[in-house]
Amino acid sequence: MNQPKEYDDSNSLQYRDIEDLVEEFPEVFKKMKGRIIDIGCGPGNITKGVLLPAVGENATIVGADLCPYMVAYAEQNYSVTNKLSYMQLDIQTPELPNNLIEKFDNATSFYCLHWCRNTKGALRNFYQLLRPGGKAIILTISHHMIFDVYSEQREDPRFSAYMQDWLKFTSPQHGHPDAEDILRNDLNDIGFKIHHCSNRWKTFTYPRMEALIDLVMSVNPFVMRLPADLQKPYREDFEKRLKDKHLPKKDYSSGCSVDCCIALLIAVFEKPHY
Ligand SMILES: C[S@@+](CC[C@H](N)C(=O)[O-])C[C@H]1O[C@@H](n2cnc3c(N)ncnc32)[C@H](O)[C@@H]1O
Repeated sequence: MNQPKEYDDSNSLQYRDIEDLVEEFPEVFKKMKGRIIDIGCGPGNITKGVLLPAVGENATIVGADLCPYMVAYAEQNYSVTNKLSYMQLDIQTPELPNNLIEKFDNATSFYCLHWCRNTKGALRNFYQLLRPGGKAIILTISHHMIFDVYSEQREDPRFSAYMQDWLKFTSPQHGHPDAEDILRNDLNDIGFKIHHCSNRWKTFTYPRMEALIDLVMSVNPFVMRLPADLQKPYREDFEKRLKDKHLPKKDYSSGCSVDCCIALLIAVFEKPHY
């Protein structure tokens, strides 16, 4: 992720999408008590604005993120004394620090696990973080057209040298029609009891093409690596590929809205008592 700029975006699609998740699973959130870890919390706006009001009154939340800029930004802008704090953590780490093991009653993770190529390793860490009886809810992208664009652009001689590790930034479930079964199997193998697991298509409507491109560029890992004179051509190439191949055919130059179809994997699962 690029360094955060500003996150006063309670109208953003991602924000509203997590609000929809809370609406779909109100009891799961309400019953979250004790200590909760929000993995891949990013800038902290959703952790504070959506998660905190949804969970049990006496719960405390620790937002965890791989990126130190995100943690610093969240600490500065979205902390709540004695309620919500932040820390740095790589959920794919092969060895969790001892002081985190079985220290959480619940775990949440929104729009983070598609960044983890080793889904099963990350989920094993969820298991380790949770106390027996602890529940988790996750939402992650299983299919997104931007991953197809990455795979096309890496063949472009202008950009390929900067995109050698493109696969690392693609959801491991992308292109797998059986994404739900793969996740179910991983959760079962680890020892979780599954309460819900689904893979669904959702359409996000952006007011204009520019809004969609701004968003995809803000999470694009390659654009900041490019020399300054290639960044605009890269953005234009991205937009052209989306229009030519991946989006419904429309005259986007007229400033019309853009429908973007994404597949989302959602699961609710529990670490059983021994
Ligand atoms: C798209 S943001 C999602 C932020 C927030 N959860 C939301 O829904 O808006 C994804 C976040 O996951 C973090 N992330 C990526 N890989 C991670 C990892 N291995 N461990 C922890 N956080 C990770 C990124 O740094 C980024 O802040």
